[in-house]
Amino acid sequence: MNFPADFIRFLKAASRIAVLTGAGVSQESGLRTFRDAQTGLWAQYKPEDLASPEAFARDPKLVWDWYAWRREAMKGVRPNPGHYALVELEKKIPQFTLITQNVDGLHRFAGSQNVLELHGNIQKVRCADCGTFTEEWGDDSETVPTCEKCGGLLRPDVVWFGEALPRAELEAAVNASRACQVYFSIGTSGLVQPAASLAHAARNNGSVVVEINAEPTPLTPKVDFAFHGKSGEILPDLLKAVWGD
Ligand code: APR
Repeated sequence: MNFPADFIRFLKAASRIAVLTGAGVSQESGLRTFRDAQTGLWAQYKPEDLASPEAFARDPKLVWDWYAWRREAMKGVRPNPGHYALVELEKKIPQFTLITQNVDGLHRFAGSQNVLELHGNIQKVRCADCGTFTEEWGDDSETVPTCEKCGGLLRPDVVWFGEALPRAELEAAVNASRACQVYFSIGTSGLVQPAASLAHAARNNGSVVVEINAEPTPLTPKVDFAFHGKSGEILPDLLKAVWGD
């Protein structure tokens, strides 16, 4: 991919960068994006019908089993060149913040350090009542495992539709988006708030906004630079063009 000379010059001089990633960054690792059709047993469900407190209250076992299936599906999944390019980018930029909507944990797995998991992490499990985190739980196929401390039902430590985002992570994400010189929106449809509003916070503070996505999104008309294609290809190309890596 060819990058405009002014874009390369600006990036080379940048010392503060914020990046927001979505499911598109993990697509080349073999993970379907959030709005891709569900497969197999889960094809009959839309994620929005499973990833909510109401769904968990209505049928905790169904929701627990969906996340158990997703954790199982994650076992063979590895970061792709897009994740690794972001690890390399972080090493070059004094103030670098990686904000992700993904719950797959692949950025940390690849080696990214300053990661804000706005929507939680599917590998973590906590008690729905007392909030205690647990690393192990019984795998009784009939019932949802319960908390050793209070007996409450266990649930994935992810943000469900209708739930508030973790305050500390959101605050840090807004601050990083406001303070950055360059803001990247990568692999996200930009449909879900409040993550989608971070680009506007960056823009309102004079940041250069860059989109890297397989297809145009509602953000595309408002960005300074838009590169449409696979993030696993564009990001390594970007590092090569700017830093010769
Ligand atoms: N490279 C770059 N972009 C890609 C790739 C790829 N290889 N493959 C897909 N995309 C793009 C798609 O074109 C789409 O615009 O990634 C975007 C993924 O969008 P969604 O599936 O909407 O996922 P996301 O934006 O992460 O959803 C945000 O919504 O449902 C909630 O909490 C959920 O975190 C999720 C949030």
